[in-house]
Amino acid sequence: MTTQSISATLPVSTREIQLAARPEGAPSAANFALVTRPIPELADGQILVRNTWMSVDPYMRGRMDDRPSYIAPFQVGAAMEGSAVGEVIASRSARIPVGAQVTHFAGWREHAVLDAELATPVDTTAAAPQHFLGALGTTGLTAYAALTDVAPVRPGDTVFVSAAAGAVGSVAGQLAKALGASRVIGSAGGPAKTALLLEEFGFDTAIDYRAGDLAGQLAAAAPEGIDVYLDSVGGEHLRVAVAAMRPKGRVALVGAISGYNGATGEPGPDLYLAATNEVSLRGMLVSSYFPIFGEYIGKAAAWLADGTLRTRETVYEGLEQAPAAFLGVLSGANTGKMLVRLG
Ligand SMILES: NC(=O)c1ccc[n+]([C@@H]2O[C@H](COP(=O)([O-])OP(=O)(O)OC[C@H]3O[C@@H](n4cnc5c(N)ncnc54)[C@H](OP(=O)(O)O)[C@@H]3O)[C@@H](O)[C@H]2O)c1
Repeated sequence: MTTQSISATLPVSTREIQLAARPEGAPSAANFALVTRPIPELADGQILVRNTWMSVDPYMRGRMDDRPSYIAPFQVGAAMEGSAVGEVIASRSARIPVGAQVTHFAGWREHAVLDAELATPVDTTAAAPQHFLGALGTTGLTAYAALTDVAPVRPGDTVFVSAAAGAVGSVAGQLAKALGASRVIGSAGGPAKTALLLEEFGFDTAIDYRAGDLAGQLAAAAPEGIDVYLDSVGGEHLRVAVAAMRPKGRVALVGAISGYNGATGEPGPDLYLAATNEVSLRGMLVSSYFPIFGEYIGKAAAWLADGTLRTRETVYEGLEQAPAAFLGVLSGANTGKMLVRLG
């Protein structure tokens, strides 16, 4: 069945951010272009969404390169994409009416025309829309999957989290505590962020990795070693953490942001040490956990409501600021989730 539902005045054109050129090393504003385009007519089964918030995420750096990966590269001269939330303003789908709030993957633009089955309705009376891009989105699900399945936290564990003042890390530190960790250590760049780890996100110890001697700081924080490490950084963080693992420790390989702008990855950890300590290092992609997304959102919405989970956002205003927000998330301009408000 096809229904048509159109709100009073619909825009005929919209703006999007396209990949203008592939970066060599660190990206810059020159790699992006702001382009105005007509909005196509809706086909049967499609919806028109006015995006209100979009996410910028470190993994998007990999999509700017033209190389085989777990997700296709962005195309030069085409709109970029990523998670967004918005309001349906026209619908030719029986499943999603005008007025619904939905999440989808056609971010980096002010309006999106998409097949209704590619959109997920969300209940924005239960939580603010942008939370569905952060603690209630893939960010939160990543932290949850990492610490409950990939490198499960057991009561009494000592847990180390890198990029701890960021989106995944700030959720992970709080989850580790809720899962029974006796000591949760976070590393972040600079004194303002380390203060936030202690005061807002419930970490027991905060390490400023920019101050140097990461190994010494971690040894002081956990003289008897660590049981679980959530790695968002790779490189030196991973080497130092593996060297500090207790026997049968567990490492969730979530990201490796310290190497995202390099042509080759950073040098790895001492794997012989990992072998003889029976340490497991396990990679993960959040998409493998989409089957439990609904269940996770239910739990996390309750944690947000009762204060178990506290969040921070860094918000850039307007689509034209999206490239700056993205460059900022790569360089640490954010605390908590980096977001762009579109309207
Ligand atoms: N596997 C998956 O499915 C999956 C899903 C989501 C995210 N991830 C990964 O998880 C990590 C965190 O993602 P997020 O979205 O939550 O981003 P985020 O942590 O909110 O932002 C990235 C943070 O990385 C830190 N950083 C940048 N360069 C660094 C370096 N050289 N050394 C140490 N820290 C550095 C910055 O904080 P400081 O100021 O503290 O340096 C920055 O704020 C990323 O590696 C991302 O790719 C993986």
